[in-house]
Formats: sequence, C-alpha cells, structure tokens
Amino acid sequence: MRDSKFHSVKPITDPAKPQLYIETYGCQMNVNDSEVVLSVMQDAGYSLCEKMEDADVILVNTCSVRENAEQRVFGRLDLFRLEKKRRPEIVVGVIGCMAERLKDQLFDYPVVDVVAGPDAYRDLPRLVAAAKTGTGQINVHLSHEETYEDISPVRMDRNGVSAFISIMRGCNNVCSYCIVPFVRGAERSRDPQSIIREAESLIANGYKEINLLGQNVDSYLWLDPHNPSRQINFARLLEQVALIDRKIRVRFSTSHPKDMSNSVLYTMAMYDNICKHIHLPVQSGNNAVLEKMNRKYTRENYLERIDKIRKILPDCAITTDVIAGFCSETEQDHLETLSILEEVQFDGAFMFQYSERPGTRAARQFKDDVPLEVKTARLNQIIALQNEISLRNNQYTVGCEYRVLIEGTSKRSEEELMGRTSQNKTCVFPAAGHKAGDFVRVKVLSCTSATLICEIIS
Ligand code: SAH
Ligand code: SF4
Ligand code: F3S
Repeated sequence: MRDSKFHSVKPITDPAKPQLYIETYGCQMNVNDSEVVLSVMQDAGYSLCEKMEDADVILVNTCSVRENAEQRVFGRLDLFRLEKKRRPEIVVGVIGCMAERLKDQLFDYPVVDVVAGPDAYRDLPRLVAAAKTGTGQINVHLSHEETYEDISPVRMDRNGVSAFISIMRGCNNVCSYCIVPFVRGAERSRDPQSIIREAESLIANGYKEINLLGQNVDSYLWLDPHNPSRQINFARLLEQVALIDRKIRVRFSTSHPKDMSNSVLYTMAMYDNICKHIHLPVQSGNNAVLEKMNRKYTRENYLERIDKIRKILPDCAITTDVIAGFCSETEQDHLETLSILEEVQFDGAFMFQYSERPGTRAARQFKDDVPLEVKTARLNQIIALQNEISLRNNQYTVGCEYRVLIEGTSKRSEEELMGRTSQNKTCVFPAAGHKAGDFVRVKVLSCTSATLICEIIS
C-alpha cells in the first residue's frame, strides 16, 4: 500500500511524458473515479493535459443514468473521431458507466480503441498500451471487492479547497428505473482506515472540506475482517472523519429515505464541522408510484424522516431529486409530487423526466406510457414550483449571517468570491482581500433562487 501522506494529490504535468486528456460526465462519484484513473495513469508514466489537441490518449468517463447523458457522450465521440482522423496514432477510450452498459457494442464507433468499466481502472495502462497495436481492448469485469482503497486519487478540481472521497462503490438497491446497480455492480464499503488516511492526506495538502460519497451512504457498513463483531456504520464513520480535525468541514451524499438513521442525525448535531445539509431524494410524492419505483418507503415514511431532521437539526437544509412522468403516473399522482414539494419546502432539487433505461426492471415490466409532452409539461411545473420555493427559502436568509468557506472567484467577476454555507447555499461577495480556502462571516443582502448575495462582515 502506498503511503498516502507523502503522495502528491495534485497532477504533475510534464511535456516530455505521453499526454493524457480526461473528460468526465455524470455524478460526483465519476468525478472522483477520474481522479483514481489519473493516479493509475500517472504511475504508468502519463502526464495530464488540458486540451484534447495535445493528447496521446483521450479518455471519456461516462454516465448512463439517462438517455441524454449518453447522447452527449456520442456527440463527444464524433469530435474525437475528427481528432483521430488528423492524428491516427492517438488512443481513445470510453470508460465508466456507458462502457459497462454497452460493452463491445462501443467498438461499432470506429473511434473507440479501449472500453473499460468502473472496476477495471487498474488495467487501463495495459489496455491503452495493447490498443496501440490497433486492436480494440476491453475490460468490463465487475468486481465484488474492488474499492481502489490503496490508490490516492490525483485531484483535478481547480480550487484545492473541497475534495471528494468515495466511501463505497456500487449499489444493492433495485430502484426499478435505475441503471446504476447494473453498471456499478454490488455495493461494497471501503476500509474506514483507508478513508481516514485519504482525508488526512487531503488536509495535509491544504483541503478544508471533505465530501464523503456513496450511492446510499446510510448503508455503509465495514466489518473488521479480524474481529467480525466490530462493525463501523455510517454514523460512526462520519464521526471519525469529523474528529480528524474539527476545523475541517465534512459533507456527505446521497442519503436514502429508507435507510437514514437517527444516529446519523444525532452525530450531525454533535459536531459543528459536519455540514447541516442532507440530500434526500424523494423521486415521487405518490405511494403507488413509489411502490412501482421500488423505493421501499411511502410518502408518510418520507415525511416522518423530514420531521425527524427538522427536530434534531433545526438549521439543516434539505435537497432532493424528483422524477416526472414515471410509468403509469397519472395527473393525480403528479399533483401529489407537487404537494410533497410544497409540504417539505426543499432548499433545492435536481429534477428529471423519466428516461427508460434498457434492462432495468421498469423497462422489462412496465410501459413507458406517459407521453413525452406530458412528461415535459409535468417537469416544467415541478421546476417552476421548486424555483418559487427555493427563492422563498433564500429570501428568509436575507439579513442573516453565515460562516462561509471560500472556494474561488464567482462566475461573474474576478473581484467577487464564491463560497458555501454549512447548508450548502452558494454565496457571492466582494473579495475584500480574502482568498479561496478562507472561512469568513458574511451577511446576506439579497438573493436569487440559486444564490445569496452577501458582504463579508469579519
Ligand atoms: N443513489 C442516489 C441517486 C443516483 S442517480 C439515490 O438513490 O437517490 C441520481 C438521480 O437520477 C436519481 O435520484 C433519480 O432522481 C435520477 N434518475 C435515475 N434514473 C433515472 C431515470 N431512468 N430517468 C430519470 N431520472 C433518473
Ligand atoms: Fe439507483 Fe436506487 Fe441505487 Fe440510487 S439507490 S443508485 S436510485 S438503485
Ligand atoms: Fe454516476 Fe451516471 Fe454512473 S450517475 S454512477 S456516472 S450512471
């Protein structure tokens, strides 16, 4: 095992080495996987480059969760094909969830040389080297053990302030619409010691915020192989990470309503460096739809979890995911989704229209029978309502003060900084001599539905 303490967490760029260009699509776990890939490739002698035109090897780390995510990647492959026409010696690899789903069908696209699934990244240097002979190389084996826990991801974020750590891989739930269990395999939790070592290394390298990632963090469970009666669950892991350094912020996602325990909420209440934000996807507000989605909770169970959060953590922000137009969803069912948004008053939401994914239980058993225009209309209603709610929630914060971790300059101006509150609200404010990585107190002056406009008060 490499000693993560002395391992560089930043890319080392060297024009004398073969150049690697990586593009990443999909969730934060994919972002973190690309950092694992860079670590593996850097150890094999590659150096990261910023532009595809400079690359000897192009890797695209892909997402299959909705059809439009895949369409975007096919668009990129068209562009890589033009580059390969110009420089036939380059190697192009499709890695990640689409590689796992489509397997050797990807070789039908003449530009693809390498196909590697999410558990095959250690094999990438070999696959890329072998592809140089001109034959397509593939490894889409899914593992029950691989967690990459001995690999120190090389961070590609630009801010050097906030970093992701994957605490588990795969998913054991079978939400009927979801492709993730098929492309990521069975759930496995990572050794807590390796998670703590990685967090310590990030902190030693100046990071101020650690994001613990998993498809369902509440089902994290580590059984000590030497003493199986010793178990570490998510609440305990969260506490251990929070205790590494009380000045370092800790976040996590995603929580699952069927599994989120009170002990996680009490742990969050005990440590002020655990951020007060929970991402708790609801998906639908109607019980028949939830059942069909195989989410394993009811509207009532979900609202009970929300009540518990509000009681134990009164200042906690709650965000969610919603799917519009799932199989057989009626207008009445849809109204119940709108009403749960009203009832909970979420601070934010990711909202999608249902996209049938081949091979899932929904694709096999149910008809994708909500017409596209109805799905789109329902999604637009959901978005309009949530925007109103997000704006209202933000308006309540005007005049309040928050502690903010600065992540960098704002999108709009170099003179303005951007940071987040513990509740994960985005704040922008004049720099006043501060920089990324500083904690500052700000006062909210005004807001939009997505941003708090603030000034620094200390
Ligand atoms: N593990 C997380 C989310 C993973 S995918 C959880 O359990 O909630 C992120 C979000 O994409 C999901 O919460 C869901 O809202 C959405 N999603 C997943 N599959 C989808 C599909 N087939 N069509 C539309 N949205 C989907
Ligand atoms: Fe998909 Fe459900 Fe697993 Fe989330 S919990 S990744 S929605 S199967
Ligand atoms: Fe993430 Fe997309 Fe794969 S959401 S797990 S990159 S299918």
